[in-house]
Amino acid sequence: MAAEPDPDRALADLRALRALTEDDRGAQRVAWTDTWAQARRWLVERLAGLPVRVDTDEAGNLWAVLDGASPDTVVLGSHIDSVPDGGWLDGALGVLGGLEVLRTLAASGTPPPVTVALVDWADEEGARFGRSLLGSGLATGTLDPRDVRDVADRDGVALADALRAHGVDVRAAPAARSRLEPVVAYLELHIEQGPVLERDGLSVGVVTGTAGVERHRVRIRGQAVQGGGFPMDARRDALAAGARLVLDVRTAARDERSRATVGAIDVRPAIPTAVPGVCELVIDQRHPDRDLLAKMRGEVHEAAARIAVEERVEVDFERIWSIAPIAFDAALVDLADETARAETGGSARLFSGALHDAASVAAAGVPTVMLFVQSRDGISHAREEDSSPEAIAAGVRTLAALTRRVIERAARG
Ligand code: HGY
Ligand code: MN
Ligand code: MN
Repeated sequence: MAAEPDPDRALADLRALRALTEDDRGAQRVAWTDTWAQARRWLVERLAGLPVRVDTDEAGNLWAVLDGASPDTVVLGSHIDSVPDGGWLDGALGVLGGLEVLRTLAASGTPPPVTVALVDWADEEGARFGRSLLGSGLATGTLDPRDVRDVADRDGVALADALRAHGVDVRAAPAARSRLEPVVAYLELHIEQGPVLERDGLSVGVVTGTAGVERHRVRIRGQAVQGGGFPMDARRDALAAGARLVLDVRTAARDERSRATVGAIDVRPAIPTAVPGVCELVIDQRHPDRDLLAKMRGEVHEAAARIAVEERVEVDFERIWSIAPIAFDAALVDLADETARAETGGSARLFSGALHDAASVAAAGVPTVMLFVQSRDGISHAREEDSSPEAIAAGVRTLAALTRRVIERAARG
């Protein structure tokens, strides 16, 4: 890679995508929506003019392939889909930072020694159907289409129908696995979405792996009654029971590597004059240690059983998604750490509580590593999500340098 990357070009792309797909509440690139499809079309336009083959695999992931002297392939990737009211960098940084690296490689005029591909994984966030890493999971085999056969969104739209409206037949998605056969390494640049790099005064860090996740939907059934006439001590209040459970979820996440979130809750009939008869909530628990994750999950199940008796309600758990903790490739972690130090003067190794498509790719056996860029105040999944231009530039430069080193290693075989 003779030429050096131009981080300002990547920054300009990030700002353009933000302007195209953000409203006053934040990024709206929710997968399988018109805004996300618009972002995809914009990305394809940005790829036009490069000597790359652009297509979408059977799982809905967008590929841009720069053919090299060898079919062995180094993949750079992330996702341009966002959560509703999301931030401008989550996922987009890795796709547009990777685009800048691809442009730089293509500018050299000679094919790289190995093939280099950029992937925009579809529906990493799982914002609409509750399954994170949907596109990368279907493409790597960590998610079986049969497991999402009956899944629908809150409006009752079936996942299969939403994907079909965007040209994806979810039953055919496993055919995308063949795309990973020539892949010898996967690199992903992403914002940290936490406070560590900012606390340590670092622009870039290296990710050693991702936490395990247990995600459950909990349905609580009590009895709706008139709120003005029914005595307090005889109520079977589904929301009061749910509120107690939310606090027990937080109590069970007691060690500093635990993460537990109840981000969605619904009650019915949801009117001021009726005691809620039904409450549904989604619990997302995470830990890098498989046993401690199982322990945290068990504690919440026990708390729910206790609450069911004391509040005289029924509580049912449905597991909607889980993934084991994933460790990234040790040699790539070392190389990334060395590269970050060389490019930015410092580095740190941290595990990611947030999930990434890199977890799917690593779980499929591909040597994988991630680079993190400092997040301002650790905020993400919110309009306030931000990183300094300097940190973004440091991330793009480090991704380019790491890509160069990985290509050289792959070319040596
Ligand atoms: O689940 C996650 O951590 C990611 O934001 N999809
Ligand atoms: Mn992300
Ligand atoms: Mn995210």
